[in-house]
Parts: sequence; C-alpha cells; structure tokens
Amino acid sequence: MDEYVVEMRHITKRFPGIVANDDVSISVKKGEIFALLGENGAGKSTLMSMLFGMYEPDEGEILIRGEKVHITSPAHATQLNIGMVHQHFKLVENYTITENIVLGQEPRARILGFLPAVDIKGSDKKISELSKRYGLEVDPRKKIEDINVSTRQRVEILKMLYREAEILIFDEPTAVLTPQEIDFLLDIIRGLRDSGKTIILITHKLEEIKNVADRCAVLCRGKLVGVMDVASTSTKAMANMMVGREVSFTTDKKPANFGKEVLNVEGLTVKNQDGLTVVKNVSFSIKKGEIFAIAGVSGNGQTEVADAISGLLPSSSGKILLDGKDITAMSVRERTLTGISYIPEDRQAVGLVLDFSLSDNLALKKYFKEPFCKKGVLQEEAFDENGKKLIEEYDIRSGQGITTTVRSMSGGNQQKAIIAREIELSSELMIFVQPTRGLDIGAIENIHKQILAQRDEGRAILLISLELDEIIGLADTIGVIYNGEMLNMAPAETLTAIQVGEYMMGVKAV
Ligand SMILES: Nc1ncnc2c1ncn2[C@@H]1O[C@H](COP(=O)(O)OP(=O)(O)OP(=O)(O)O)[C@@H](O)[C@H]1O
Ligand SMILES: [Mg+2]
Repeated sequence: MDEYVVEMRHITKRFPGIVANDDVSISVKKGEIFALLGENGAGKSTLMSMLFGMYEPDEGEILIRGEKVHITSPAHATQLNIGMVHQHFKLVENYTITENIVLGQEPRARILGFLPAVDIKGSDKKISELSKRYGLEVDPRKKIEDINVSTRQRVEILKMLYREAEILIFDEPTAVLTPQEIDFLLDIIRGLRDSGKTIILITHKLEEIKNVADRCAVLCRGKLVGVMDVASTSTKAMANMMVGREVSFTTDKKPANFGKEVLNVEGLTVKNQDGLTVVKNVSFSIKKGEIFAIAGVSGNGQTEVADAISGLLPSSSGKILLDGKDITAMSVRERTLTGISYIPEDRQAVGLVLDFSLSDNLALKKYFKEPFCKKGVLQEEAFDENGKKLIEEYDIRSGQGITTTVRSMSGGNQQKAIIAREIELSSELMIFVQPTRGLDIGAIENIHKQILAQRDEGRAILLISLELDEIIGLADTIGVIYNGEMLNMAPAETLTAIQVGEYMMGVKAV
C-alpha cells in the first residue's frame, strides 16, 4: 500500500474577489517528487502556503502522515517536518549564512559554563556537515548580501534540512537559475528524494517535470484539473491540459524590416558595485525593427550592459547614443523620457512598488504627465482607464482588478504588469531582461507575440535572456557576452543553437 505523507482534501481558499483554491484534493506519497503545474495565478503558491502554515484553508482538511492537523504557522509546519523554499527568498541580508539558517532555532552554549550564548561554532559545524552530505556547498560565515542567487537558494535549502524537514516544498526554484545551476539543483532534488525525503515542486518548465518528477498535478484557475503519471505523459499533453487549449511551441516571425539606427553603444565599460570591471569595451548598435539579443551565461556582464543603458549603473568609459543623442550622462528618468523602456531582472526590487495598487503601478512611469496629471493634480479616471486597458490586453490576473495591491498578486502576474507598463510607453528602445522568467507557457507565448509586434512596429529591442530557445526564437541579431566581452555578433539565421551555446562557454568563432 502506498503511504501518503501529505493529504490535502477539498481545500478551498478565498481572497477578496477571488477563489484561489477551489475544492482541491491532492495526496503525496512518501519519497516521491510531486510536481504542481498551472498558469500564473492558478493557486499553486497559495496551496503550498497552506501546507506551510502561512494561511489556513477556509474549507477542507490536511492530513500529515495520516493524522489530521490544523497547521497554524510556519513554526508549526516546521515541527511537523515541513519546509518550504519560497518563490521570493526570505533571508536577512546583513546576517551571515549560519545566522540565517539557525534564526529562531539558535543552539545554546554556555560560556564559562554558565553564561548563555548562541553556539555559532557548533552550528557552523552542523551546517558544514549538511552541506557535504547533500552537495550544497556554502561558506557559512559569508553574509547574504555578498552571495549570489543560487547560493542564496542553497542557504534556503540548508535551512530546511537544518530543521529536519522531511517534506520539502520548492516554489519555482529554477526560475532564478541558469541552465547549469538548474541541472545541479535537479540533481540535488533527486538526491534528497533518494535519501527518503518527499518533495513538492512547483515549476513552469515542463522538461524539468519530465526530468525529475514522478507525478504531476495540474491546477487551472484555482481548480484541480488532473493528476498524471509523468513517465507516461508527454510535455505537450501537460501543456494542453494546463492552458486548456493547444499551445504552440514555436513563434511565428515575419521577416525583419530594419530602419535607421536607434541605439549606439561605443566602447562601453562598466564597473560593478565592488569596483570590478564587468563590461569591457563593448560596442553594438540596434536599428528600428531589430531584436538584438545578448546571449550568455548568467554573471558575464549582460545585466550590467542593460543597467548602464537604462542609467541604473554609471559607465566608466564609452558612449551611449539614442537616436544620435548622447545620453551617457542622463538620469534614469531623463532616459525614460528620451525613449527607453526597461524590464529589469529583479522585478520586485526595481520594477514595482509592492504596496501600491495595480493601477498606480501601471502608471508609474508616466503619472507626472498628461492625462495622468493635469496642472499638478492627479487624474484618477486616467489611472483607472489605463489600468483596465492593460489588464485586458496582457491578461493580468488579480483578485480585485486595478485596485489590487501588487504584493498580493501571483509572481507571474506581477511580471506581466511590468511588461505591460513598459511596452505601453511605446519607447523607441525597449530593453527586456529575462522577460518571461516565472511565466507560464501560455503567458510566454503571449509576451513573445507582444515583443515581435513591437519589433514589427519599428521599435529597437534589446533582449537579454538566459533561455537560449527564447533568443533563437526571437532575435534578428545575436551577440554573445563572455566575461564582460562581446565575443561574436551575427545575424541570427547564421547561427545554430549549438554554436551559440559554445560561444557562451567562451569558445571563439573562427
Ligand atoms: N495574500 C493574498 N491576498 C489576496 N489575493 C491573493 C493573495 N495571495 C494570492 N492571492 C491571489 O490568489 C490567486 C492565486 O495566487 P498564487 O500566488 O497562488 O498563484 P500561482 O499559481 O502561484 O501563480 P504564479 O505562477 O504566477 O506564481 C491570484 O489571483 C492572487 O492574486
Ligand atoms: Mg506562485
């Protein structure tokens, strides 16, 4: 008989204006990898948040190892050996890795035999042991602010293991990783399963499910559509079940029609916050009607190129020309007004004001202009109208329409909101950094269409993506960045995915 460690029965959860989970029942076996698939806003994070005690269901019951429980808090979930790595990490920036891992569970030591103190050394040791056992290497004394995304994720995983979690929930763990890091993480996840842990994995990437999961549940607008055996189901079938229609995996692209040069980058050199040169003498230009894509392994300088063009990072030498006008010394807002839209990589930190409403966020880049502001007075109807229009066009799903606080929206719908706002600026130059990260495949299809439509309307587009498929599918011209240098630039049709992949690893073209 199969042993179910997690049973969620007839779970319903309502938020103002929306039923996030509607009579959902799933059962997870001990030692399996159970995937959760569904469109942005389908209710995946909500369902798992209830298992982790962040919300209580309005209806339904939860059984852990066969026993009915009311999970009232994350601390309670931890006692039940349930751990969760959230879609947006929850670490304290200026604490060390060890401090973050033991937070709330500090081991006690006695100095001189009687003074109570936190036993940091003892924890360092336990953490090192866990890192070794599961292949999750970290330096426990480093501060969170000094480590990259994939290491942060390791910290989150170690935090669960430190608390002896047996049921591990991963909410879109691969959305923030590079392809290499993803392979590594999937190996870790397999290893955890093989050591007897039970894994629940939320992801939008069907190949990942195919790769590691045993079973997969599909949610659609809060309802459970089905649970399937992964080995005997094709990715195409999963996709269709999720979106409720046929999904096309290829994008139709019209032949390019280039116009005059819009962006000209000459000898751009950029230093990062630590004073290291991360972009080295990079030059390229983008014409009207052209999608110029920069391919590269994460951390090779591509985000800094985008930050320098949009004005978030100063350039230490070189020139940036927009329509022939030197913008190198302009502020971010001046550049926006001159004609740049920017979809940044870190959408929560730079892209949105989480506690503002959706309609305010959708007007964030133009609220100071007409029709939003007349003679210094903000015009509410203009905000409403703009918000409603964009929600409709970009299929942004939220509980209370334009009045929804952005913080309460699902990750993917937050991303759609940024994209809508930036495209709507109709800027001459549009910079998209990882535009489809965290989006479901239906939404990706829609965003790809929007990007191509902008190109066909004559915009110059800079696309930075870690997804090689996305680059190959959209780009007219591809540049590969490696260690801060632009190695190769060529028309997309002259390059194969394999070549681009090789250049990304530093192989030079002959
Ligand atoms: N705290 C909250 N307050 C109000 N509404 C919420 C809250 N949390 C989630 N929702 C709403 O519930 C719905 C489901 O959201 P959820 O985050 O579970 O989606 P998801 O499947 O994880 O989507 P994504 O793939 O985009 O992360 C969304 O419409 C969201 O706006
Ligand atoms: Mg989610």
